Amino acid sequence: MAEEKRRRGLRAGLRRAAGRLSGRRPAIPEGPFALEFEGHAPIPVPGGTTILAGAAAAGVDLDHYCGGMASCGTCKVSVVTGVENLMDADGREQMVLGSQSAASGLRLACQARVVGPVTIRIPRWF
Ligand code: FES
Repeated sequence: MAEEKRRRGLRAGLRRAAGRLSGRRPAIPEGPFALEFEGHAPIPVPGGTTILAGAAAAGVDLDHYCGGMASCGTCKVSVVTGVENLMDADGREQMVLGSQSAASGLRLACQARVVGPVTIRIPRWF
């Protein structure tokens, strides 16, 4: 199960990379897709919606001190399911997350865009 999930994620990444190499931006699926925050009912969101925007639409409280500029890191979330259904982290997100956080499955809610069903856990840091 985990291996298949990893393979699907790799295939999706390869398709996106192929699109970048060909000079085309990968098309963002329209959706709507189910975005769920643990403890809350899933909501439908259009493809390309950031997790942060989805949290606001769902009425879920999520810190975002820099206003979504990918500079503070306070919007870090953990992806429970559907990691393959998020667009790849760009260089700015990777820099703010750091390699350790990225490797442990954290994403910046203000940067990660939904392209399929996803379940999110909001870490409690304090
Ligand atoms: S809101 Fe500051 S990094 Fe996402």
